[in-house]
Amino acid sequence: MVFDFATPVERRHPSGSWPSQKWHHYGDKVLPLWVADMDFVSPPAVLEALHARVEHGVFGYGLVPDSLRETVCAWSAQHYGWAIEPEWQQWLPGVVPALHLASMALTEPGDGVLTVTPIYPPFLKVAERTGRTPQQACMREPAAPGETWCLDLEALEAAITPRTRLLLWCHPHNPTGRVWERDELAGLAELVERHDLYVVSDELHCDLLLEEGASHVPLAAAFPALAERTITLWAPSKTFNLAGLTTACAVIPDPELRRRFAAAAKGLVPDGNVLGLAAAEAAYGQGEAWRQALLEVLRDHRRRLVERVAHWPGVGMAPPQSTYLAWLDLRKAGLGESPQRALLERAGVALSDGADFGHPGFVRLNFGTTATQLDAALARLDKVLKA
Ligand SMILES: Cc1ncc(COP(=O)(O)O)c(C=O)c1O
Repeated sequence: MVFDFATPVERRHPSGSWPSQKWHHYGDKVLPLWVADMDFVSPPAVLEALHARVEHGVFGYGLVPDSLRETVCAWSAQHYGWAIEPEWQQWLPGVVPALHLASMALTEPGDGVLTVTPIYPPFLKVAERTGRTPQQACMREPAAPGETWCLDLEALEAAITPRTRLLLWCHPHNPTGRVWERDELAGLAELVERHDLYVVSDELHCDLLLEEGASHVPLAAAFPALAERTITLWAPSKTFNLAGLTTACAVIPDPELRRRFAAAAKGLVPDGNVLGLAAAEAAYGQGEAWRQALLEVLRDHRRRLVERVAHWPGVGMAPPQSTYLAWLDLRKAGLGESPQRALLERAGVALSDGADFGHPGFVRLNFGTTATQLDAALARLDKVLKA
């Protein structure tokens, strides 16, 4: 089956009926390569499932269908070799809410909530918003072109205090796109056990590995001893471009952790978005061919980006190993204190500001758009960055 990833879809809807964060936040002349959603129509099977659900016409409180739970078990076994049980799945309206709920469920006020930077900005807010103490360790920067960002275990160990209780982990990593090596994860697992920490492993981008032959292993599956202290977060939102349907899944093997997480969620988050649940089942059940086609498109877009960046003096980028986000070092690009603002004003391209990820001087670029739009944005960036 041929899928269309090339025809631009109007997301700046002229009537303004369906405003999108990505396309409406900045002015009409700006090309948006910032917030992490893609400009692609979701898989046909998802659209069909949504049509059928809408046709039913009744949108009262739903339940998570057993068939969805079974579909996710099958997806996990097939793609990740992890045999999960239907009852381990707690469905909820987003991964970010799950990060906050985990903090409330697994730690006490004042406890340390640790993460590594740079990191997807909400990770940096969880501790403060839940009355805990934020703790951070920096990743190791690429020392030379061709190298990647790495986990710095010594820095992580140094950031741990006796009050540290929870590690918020991103696997694969947003914003660097790193797919962690087995030895990095082994070091992490050892440290987590030795310090008796809980882990939230946000694996939202795990279905989008760009390196041929690369494989994702959920943290709790790679190190079974960690399973009883780990909450794994999955969602169809990045893979199948469904973020607006606010549907995610926490996979929690340990019954006591599951109970605590469910108790924290009670009354704070609604059970399930009936459209999101229908879409999730269709995506995981029938979206594989679409996902494979998407990966080819993203690989091509990454290639286009890498070629351009090579011509931008002073700009560093380790090619992302996963997802549709690239992390650019602009500290030596001569764009002043805020390269994000400079590129917005001078090139008319909206990128995400590295300062929000804990690293000023960097930007994150979303290449999950049509080739036409990506090329147009890169041509605009060329005018500023090639100079
Ligand atoms: C690593 C990561 N976690 C969570 C989210 C947001 O998830 P949700 O929209 O389900 O809250 C994103 C979105 O970009 C992300 O990249």
